[in-house]
Amino acid sequence: MSLSLSRRGTERLISWLVHRMESLSQGEVVSTSSMGTFPKRVKIVEVGPRDGLQNEKNIVPTPVKIKLIDMLSEAGLPVIEATSFVSPKWVPQMADHSEVLKGIQKFPGINYPVLTPNMKGFQEAVSAGAKEVSIFGAASELFTRKNVNCSIDESFQRFDGIMQAAQAASIPVRGYVSCALGCPYEGKVSPAKVAEVAKKLYSMGCYEISLGDTIGVGTPGLMKDMLTAVMREVPVAALAVHCHDTYGQALANTLVALQMGVSVVDSSVAGLGGCPYAKGASGNLATEDLVYMLTGLGIQTGVNLQKLLEAGDFICQALNRKTSSKVAQATCKL
Ligand code: HMG
Ligand code: MG
Repeated sequence: MSLSLSRRGTERLISWLVHRMESLSQGEVVSTSSMGTFPKRVKIVEVGPRDGLQNEKNIVPTPVKIKLIDMLSEAGLPVIEATSFVSPKWVPQMADHSEVLKGIQKFPGINYPVLTPNMKGFQEAVSAGAKEVSIFGAASELFTRKNVNCSIDESFQRFDGIMQAAQAASIPVRGYVSCALGCPYEGKVSPAKVAEVAKKLYSMGCYEISLGDTIGVGTPGLMKDMLTAVMREVPVAALAVHCHDTYGQALANTLVALQMGVSVVDSSVAGLGGCPYAKGASGNLATEDLVYMLTGLGIQTGVNLQKLLEAGDFICQALNRKTSSKVAQATCKL
């Protein structure tokens, strides 16, 4: 099946969505009462260029990565995680981090955070012009060991150094908690452990905590229990969810988080993604599918769906792969 977008089909879809938004703003009744209330606006954190590509075996040429990020910027994503300053021995795909960060167009008002596992990564990121970084912890000892080669406690010692340097340089820091709904090595992860790690990251100065269902095993009930525990320790305004879609639960889990007041959602164009140190993990929630659902719910994102679909089409062609976004597949068939 060709992945190229049918222009007519896409136009039809977009015009339906625009009409839907107009109807909503004119007061069309959307029965959300039984579903709870939703945030008026959701900030989407696009992680495709980092989470989406880090798992790719074949090295994606640097100009392709740069073009993808520029297209995502054109589509109006407010935050685009651009790359990660991790060891190239551990994740060869991210070895061109500095070239990528220096090569992208920096759109005003858009943030381009990068992952930094330690001081070496942080310093290299800052030298390459990073204005925001993310540190990544986990609620599982075994996953932490496999992913960053240390214990949870040792990972926090590294974070301390990064936080101090970041604060001195006025660089905002985002924090991740991986294995928030399950671990590839330990299985079940208790909501109390997720809350403990999230609280630590928040207390040390992370402005936002992204709760990652790294291997996509969570279901809505687990998401609710985990968020209930975390929200006792961290204000909901500082929380984000990051759902991988391995078991097809990412959109449902995200919906539960929205109902609970979370207004920041991580997703990946075309549903790309995975973690090299979490075997079997598939891609993130597809950004196209997220935007479609949010628009249908009358929630603003500022994202141009058509341009986003074009970015997804571009990267799928470059990777010679079928999109994982249902919305992209549907518009293709129209
Ligand atoms: P290590 O081997 O323990 O590091 O790796 P080390 O401190 O012992 O140093 C060994 C060598 O690595 C030295 O070089 C260092 O200079 C070098 P040598 O002297 O042998 O020539 N080194 C570095 N080189 C480049 N950049 C660096 C760096 N640090 C040390 N930053 C380390 C420890 C943390 C570096 C490694 O384990 C690593 O890079 N891990 C990253 C793994 C990763 O990227 N995982 C995916 C991201 S997390 C994720 O996907 C989950 C998320 O999406 C949320 C979710 O879904 O849940 C965020
Ligand atoms: Mg991830």
